[in-house]
Amino acid sequence: MIRLAILASGSGSNAEKIMEHFQNSSKGHVALVASNKPDAFVLERAKNFQVPTFTFTKKEMEAGVLLDKLREEKIDWVILAGFLLKIPDDLIRAFPNRMVNIHPALLPKYGGKGMYGAYVHEAVKAAGDKETGITIHLVNEHYDEGKIIFQAATSVTPEDTPDSIAQKVHALEHRYFPEVIESLI
Ligand code: GRF
Repeated sequence: MIRLAILASGSGSNAEKIMEHFQNSSKGHVALVASNKPDAFVLERAKNFQVPTFTFTKKEMEAGVLLDKLREEKIDWVILAGFLLKIPDDLIRAFPNRMVNIHPALLPKYGGKGMYGAYVHEAVKAAGDKETGITIHLVNEHYDEGKIIFQAATSVTPEDTPDSIAQKVHALEHRYFPEVIESLI
């Protein structure tokens, strides 16, 4: 069984879909949900799935506390699902081609620093793009520039708002992220 850790900073709706999926998988299971936000709703979701949780500060992560925990838990793959801190290079290097992120746009568009959450969907709306989507990619030392594994698109109409775009993108994430992880591992 492949042991997965999910890192998330927020609500964790993607984390929930992943935990749900891997309850019935013969390939892997979610062994840990870790967050830099002690009040993140993702931690509640993890408890409902009886998945162990771990919280840490940015400073602790930079001092290697998270890496130690991932090693102690014998984690094979790290899944970033709405994790908002920059991952230290030594942590990335500890999981070569074993760390995957989901980005709520069609990279290379709308990637890089400051492009997360609502900012992405506002930028798509402001540019008048006719489509947007999701990108699932491996993580390397450069923000949002790792190898792209999977993309899926959805249309954007003139009536769409940043909120409705976010809903469409979330629907794609929930539909594809768990199965893409399953096929990757
Ligand atoms: C998702 O849109 C994901 O692409 C991103 O952060 C969001 C997290 O949503 N990078 P949730 O916490 O899984 O609901």
